[in-house]
Amino acid sequence: MPDHVLCSLTELSDPGAKGPFRVGNTSVFVVRQGDRVRAYVDSCPHAFAPLEMEPDQFLDLTRSYVLCSLHGAHFDPDSGACVLGPCLGRSLTAYPIRIHNGKIIAGPQPDGI
Ligand code: FES
Repeated sequence: MPDHVLCSLTELSDPGAKGPFRVGNTSVFVVRQGDRVRAYVDSCPHAFAPLEMEPDQFLDLTRSYVLCSLHGAHFDPDSGACVLGPCLGRSLTAYPIRIHNGKIIAGPQPDGI
């Protein structure tokens, strides 16, 4: 099966986020802070809504947190944990990725997503 390339590292500002991308029946986005790139399912654990209002708009004004545009939950981009808002104690669902030759590649869809 060919690699499912989400985007290139050069398309992702630092800090930055991009998506959503369709992987099978799942929507995911990627977020970068320095050398750390993570991917999460695009579903807020509060009400399971997509996080963004516009494509690629996943970060708060400080570009330090992933922001849910519906009710303002803030998430740590590195762990996915909610640090502010109505879903404190819950987390975004991580999605496996790898980086090869400057491309961010989606892994197989884990069970339970
Ligand atoms: S759906 Fe994200 S904070 Fe409510």
